Amino acid sequence: MKHLQDGATLHNGVRMPWLGLGVYKVEEGDEVRRAVRTALEVGYRHVDTAAFYQNEEGVGQAIRESGIPRDQIFVTTKVWNSDQGYESTLKAFDTSLKKLGFDYIDLYLVHWPVKGKYKETYKALEKLYKDGFVRAIGVSNFQTHHLEDVLADCEIKPMVNQVEFHPRLTQKPLLEFCKQHHIQLEAWSPLMRGGELLNEPTLVNIAKKYDKTPAQVILRWDLQHEVVTIPKSVTPERIAQNANIFDFTLTKEEMDAIDALNENRRIGPDPDNFDF
Ligand SMILES: NC(=O)c1ccc[n+]([C@@H]2O[C@H](COP(=O)([O-])OP(=O)(O)OC[C@H]3O[C@@H](n4cnc5c(N)ncnc54)[C@H](OP(=O)(O)O)[C@@H]3O)[C@@H](O)[C@H]2O)c1
Repeated sequence: MKHLQDGATLHNGVRMPWLGLGVYKVEEGDEVRRAVRTALEVGYRHVDTAAFYQNEEGVGQAIRESGIPRDQIFVTTKVWNSDQGYESTLKAFDTSLKKLGFDYIDLYLVHWPVKGKYKETYKALEKLYKDGFVRAIGVSNFQTHHLEDVLADCEIKPMVNQVEFHPRLTQKPLLEFCKQHHIQLEAWSPLMRGGELLNEPTLVNIAKKYDKTPAQVILRWDLQHEVVTIPKSVTPERIAQNANIFDFTLTKEEMDAIDALNENRRIGPDPDNFDF
């Protein structure tokens, strides 16, 4: 973990860069194109989108415009809840692929564990994987019991679980479970959407010591927990700042102090109780 383009090795051998750009709530068109182009220029090689974000076309366009070979950029997209089910997932995948303008996707995720549907949906992902349309498959917002349910009868173990993860929600048992099963954990809303955490005194103090910002300290804490992280920003300075986390190392005491900020508090929906 010395360089922005270093990555985790998923259980099928595919390499996934530790840091990516998140594009939730980034507008389709100029805004998303600019953000992705900026990130690629800074050296990011990983972008996280979803059908639900409605900006896949801009993401694909920015990647083509960059001139960087497609196989050097890791792109994730996700099947939305209303498309879950076997046939409908295959169709939704086709739409995403066309919008992105690609002939394969690096990582395809089940966006949320929709009751009664997520296992069928996951079977469609296995089919896409076996047919060579995706380099890796996984899930998002899955709790341990959802993972156990999938692991009980899947053919191909999920490679990734993308969940809300930040110093107020450290997900220790889930992180342990994923490590045991070689499922790579990935943090969404790592900065808690830029709110209270960025003024939290423990983080502010650690940041001062390294001449970094609290956001950089949080993202470094993700890396040292071996969690892939995808901060979102449309601000060029912040896109660059968030990537500048490979030149310092938090001590064990600092990692513990950040872990101790946990309150098991979510800013997003509860995966066991959502209605969308
Ligand atoms: N799987 C899921 O269900 C799920 C759910 C939510 C998110 N996600 C993914 O995770 C990504 C990240 O999560 P998120 O977008 O919810 O939140 P986030 O990355 O925690 O925070 C983004 C917010 O923080 C600000 N920010 C970024 N860098 C900053 C810095 N260095 N200093 C101060 N403020 C900073 C951004 O502002 P500006 O943009 O104005 O700079 C934006 O308002 C999403 O974009 C999406 O790709 C997945």
